[in-house]
Amino acid sequence: MNLTSMSDKVLGKLPGGVAGAVYRGASLIPGLRRRLDKEYESMLASVPGVEVGADVPVYTKLPNEPRSRDEILADIGAISAVEEAGWSEGRASGAVYHGDSGHIGFLNEVYALQSQSNPLHLDLWPSGMKFEAEVVAMTADILGAAETPDEIVGNVTSGGTESIILAMKAYRDRAGQAEPEMVLPDSAHVAFDKAAQYLGYRQVRVPVGADYDADVEAMTQAISKRTVVVVGSAPGFPHGIVDPIPELSEMARERGIGFHTDACLGGFVMPWVAQLGYDAPQFDFRLPGVTSMSADTHKYGYAAKGTSVVLYRGRALRHHQYYVATEWPGGLYFSPTIAGSRPGALLASAWAAMLSMGEAGYERAAAAILATGAEIRDGVNAIAELRVLGDPLWVVAFASEEVNIYEVMARMAERGWSLNGLHHPEAVHLAVTLRHTQDGVAATFLEDLRSAVETAKATGLEPHTGSAPMYGMAATFPARGAVAELLRRYVDRLYQVTPKD
Ligand SMILES: Cc1ncc(COP(=O)(O)O)c(C=O)c1O
Repeated sequence: MNLTSMSDKVLGKLPGGVAGAVYRGASLIPGLRRRLDKEYESMLASVPGVEVGADVPVYTKLPNEPRSRDEILADIGAISAVEEAGWSEGRASGAVYHGDSGHIGFLNEVYALQSQSNPLHLDLWPSGMKFEAEVVAMTADILGAAETPDEIVGNVTSGGTESIILAMKAYRDRAGQAEPEMVLPDSAHVAFDKAAQYLGYRQVRVPVGADYDADVEAMTQAISKRTVVVVGSAPGFPHGIVDPIPELSEMARERGIGFHTDACLGGFVMPWVAQLGYDAPQFDFRLPGVTSMSADTHKYGYAAKGTSVVLYRGRALRHHQYYVATEWPGGLYFSPTIAGSRPGALLASAWAAMLSMGEAGYERAAAAILATGAEIRDGVNAIAELRVLGDPLWVVAFASEEVNIYEVMARMAERGWSLNGLHHPEAVHLAVTLRHTQDGVAATFLEDLRSAVETAKATGLEPHTGSAPMYGMAATFPARGAVAELLRRYVDRLYQVTPKD
């Protein structure tokens, strides 16, 4: 009996909480624990391990003698060629947001020039500070800094997750109270959950409304005297919907609570949405209640991977983010973000990406992405068996009452498409990037989707390839502790190096 059938036959008949308790109890009894172990192993056996698809050696220890640089470059080149095929033609959701070879080559040149730079050593690389401060200023400027009397300040972090964790740290430390709470819609990124775990927050996740946007009324009800921050997304990762930020941020402001707009996905697209004629609420510092934001340069900012911007209304809030040490034998120490040493080359490449795009470049990119997003949203809605969730702009999630949507995802994978699986509700999404704005890509996507739906209809409801079985199991299995354990074992498996024969 595998976990899915165990869920159907036994635990599926119990309410989730009871099933969870049965699972926890069972995992404490050695005999049942061993049986569960076997179940996990057999579930994971059907999930493919890591395979780079190129014939390169596997190392579990250092080579005795140095290998030649040419050989090493040849191996990495072979791997990169295989991997590039996965995204360069526009068959991946999100992942590579620009991807033009000229743009990538330019960023690589910048990286090479600055590869040794570490802004921790300000005396050696003052340029790191210049690049960072200017990336922050330019990002603040497109996010409404000029239209508010307050000073908008910030830092460059390693990515959206770090920006979110740091903003949540700033609110926690400013409040200085036990058991701080954050109130956020269910659709807010899982990075807030990570922040809550790391920082000792209680998270109050509120179900989204029928259109998949944050429910202002329900979120207002969820505020307590311990709430230190309210969150909205512009847009959210799962369904690509922009939350009603004006209402949410105003509700927070009236109560003297902080408000964070997560624009990790939208920070470099949303500023042009209204002027391009699309319908979207205001979301940035022009709203007086918005006290912090996150915007990822390494997504639609078109920089190399490894940078994001966190912004605050005023220096006082940012001070709660900083780390300073006055008594360490290693000297007086300060560090604005989580890392100590930081890659100055990534700051330089974010700066270079922004300058090489300019306002006009970002606007043109946004226009192309929004037009392709609309084509895909309308095309998916025209497939009778599918239903787009809400009214998204360029991250398009869809579900079905007639076919198993994970089966559709698996059939799309066979056709070379790498889509994101979602759950609660079961759905799949495509985040449109500049890759999809290339000629014919959207039309091919829709054609492949139509045929994937037909194949999925013919093969029935049981998903059986790629990550689909994991999603199928995870969606139905009521003992969430078992699902979490399965995920932990899956991560272990990714780190398992198997020597070649
Ligand atoms: C809305 C949103 N917030 C936060 C994140 C987290 O960003 P990162 O993966 O760079 O840590 C993402 C990532 O997709 C996102 O879409």
